[in-house]
Amino acid sequence: MNDTYRLLADEIAGAVAGAADADAAMRAVVTRLQSGLPHYSWAGFYLLEGNELVLGPYVGKPSPHTRIPLGRGICGAAATTGQSIIVDDVNSDPRYLACSIETKSEIVVPILHGDNVLGEIDIDSDRPAAFGPHDQALLEEIATAIAPRLKERSL
Ligand code: SME
Repeated sequence: MNDTYRLLADEIAGAVAGAADADAAMRAVVTRLQSGLPHYSWAGFYLLEGNELVLGPYVGKPSPHTRIPLGRGICGAAATTGQSIIVDDVNSDPRYLACSIETKSEIVVPILHGDNVLGEIDIDSDRPAAFGPHDQALLEEIATAIAPRLKERSL
């Protein structure tokens, strides 16, 4: 990660640890990501409930996809495999569920607790191929930091 990403990762880790509860932690993450990284046009959490991903805190335009079955979308694919997915051109990916006509690229990073998927972080960009290894490393670090806070929520 470069210096900008390192600083942001550390700031977000502090905010996640200090947040009053899981919802506040998720809100802290999405607001800091969007203000720190201008190519993050939409940033949100999906939380796994049964066989569906349910939209949690987000910043950006309202999404029509408030509940996504595990078998659908790039979000469903990331949750099913437990692996991060980067899509450089959403319009050429048949899995893609459109959220905004402006979206060109997307990264989805699952939030794991052991082998269990708790949810995921989903970022859309209005720029093509906006996401690379720095973004994946940053978001995977955040996913690791927030997993215990999400686990609290489900207790
Ligand atoms: N594009 C996602 C759906 C969620 S919106 O981006 C917020 C997908 O294909 O799963």
